[in-house]
Amino acid sequence: MDEEIKKEKIIIFDTTLRDGEQSPGASLTQKAKIEIAHQLKALGVDIIEAGFPVSSRGDFEAVKMVAKEVKGPVICGLARSLKKDIDAANQALSPAKRRRIHVFLATSKIHMKYKLKKAEEEILRQAVWAVKYAKKKCPDVEFSPEDATRTDPLFLYRVIEAVIEAGATTVNIPDTVGYAMPEEFERLISGIVRSVPNIDKTILSVHCHNDLGLAVANSIAAIVKGARQVECTVNGIGERAGNASMEEIVMALATRADLFNIETSVRTKEIMKASRLVSTLTGIPVQPNKAIVGGNAFSHEAGIHQDGILKKRTTYEIMKPSDVGVGESHLVLGKHSGRHAFKDRLKKLGFHLKEKEIDSAFEEFKALADKKKEIFDEDLETIVEGQIAGLRKRCFKLEEVYVESGNKVVPKATIKLKIKGKIITRSSTGDGPVDACYKAIDKMVRLRGKLLDYQLRAVTRGKDALGEVSVKMKAKGKIVTGRGASTDIIEASALAYINALNRLAAK
Ligand code: KIV
Ligand code: ZN
Repeated sequence: MDEEIKKEKIIIFDTTLRDGEQSPGASLTQKAKIEIAHQLKALGVDIIEAGFPVSSRGDFEAVKMVAKEVKGPVICGLARSLKKDIDAANQALSPAKRRRIHVFLATSKIHMKYKLKKAEEEILRQAVWAVKYAKKKCPDVEFSPEDATRTDPLFLYRVIEAVIEAGATTVNIPDTVGYAMPEEFERLISGIVRSVPNIDKTILSVHCHNDLGLAVANSIAAIVKGARQVECTVNGIGERAGNASMEEIVMALATRADLFNIETSVRTKEIMKASRLVSTLTGIPVQPNKAIVGGNAFSHEAGIHQDGILKKRTTYEIMKPSDVGVGESHLVLGKHSGRHAFKDRLKKLGFHLKEKEIDSAFEEFKALADKKKEIFDEDLETIVEGQIAGLRKRCFKLEEVYVESGNKVVPKATIKLKIKGKIITRSSTGDGPVDACYKAIDKMVRLRGKLLDYQLRAVTRGKDALGEVSVKMKAKGKIVTGRGASTDIIEASALAYINALNRLAAK
């Protein structure tokens, strides 16, 4: 019997509440931070970096509240390699059962020379001091050599070795400015693993920024070479172009389990909920084409893809939407859609039409799709109901509407109708464009009805929403209603009137 190879665990260090909150424009209230922290716990992340306590009173309190209320994950606070920062982090984290102090200090030449104005030896001493000081207060200490990817590797190795010696339980390698290429980052991680003699005494972590869109690729490359913790954020939010996206890393590892013998403790079904919560509370929308959590991530528009999906989901989908908490794949009905997807959606909406009715409704759907980007279920319902009513007792059919209207002209409408197979055209003026249409129609249809009611409403969403008109008419003692829908409200008005006339004619 094959022995199952034990999977290695990747620690998910979530920094949505710290680096994520550094996204331009995203400031979270204490209450919002706690709400997100609870969802991060539900998601199953291992560590929550709740904030930078020394940065403000509010952040201090927020970290303290998270430390007090959220049980389970390790709660972490960020600190520069300074006494006041470490003290503040330690104090804010004190209510947490499991806590971590994360200290950082820049090690690249450019940061040391221009930002810190310190030489290598001084930086080395300060890093060691900071780790030892933090260690006295908290057994779990993480150290980050900021801007590691632009640091001289030999100096980086020395710093790492020294901070491990000083007690750092995790050493995190940040690609602070998102500068590294995946191969280069792989080499850096391999170099650290090979060259730092005590590297096995710590957990190697990575923290990648997305300035070149490579944060997730670099994080995965580092995992392949031995990193066992990744720092990431929900929706990939963070300083400038953001951090590595938690959901992308987790789903890449899960989806390509054939390549990685690795697992995380994330409950993937909670991903979408976390994404929506973070987006709502930070006010940062998720771009539609964002991997995993974007509105289009499980939407299919092309007819060929929709047909494939309906035949076998995996033809065009590598993940199950339900695995990340998305209801189900969505076939976007629009001008690229084919008959297969259209018919399938009608069935799902509970319409069981004859082939002839489907043909005719499909024609109308395509015509509408040329005018309107996405056809929603409400649009379909309107089309189909109109079709059923029309096909079964249609006597008059609208072929064309032309109106001239404005605030300085008398409204005039020209209507082309098909009546029992014959095309007839008439024009009329009126009090408004709709009145002109109805008068032009009256000239062709010899059913003298009285319009009792006219209502217009938007039945679908968006700027190009479908407008639906309902009319009520009375003729020869009978009252009928008619409905019409179009992105053009004048056309919808004419269709509703004709629909009512057809019903009168049928009676
Ligand atoms: O990007 C960065 O270098 C950081 C450190 C504080 C880890 O956020
Ligand atoms: Zn960062």
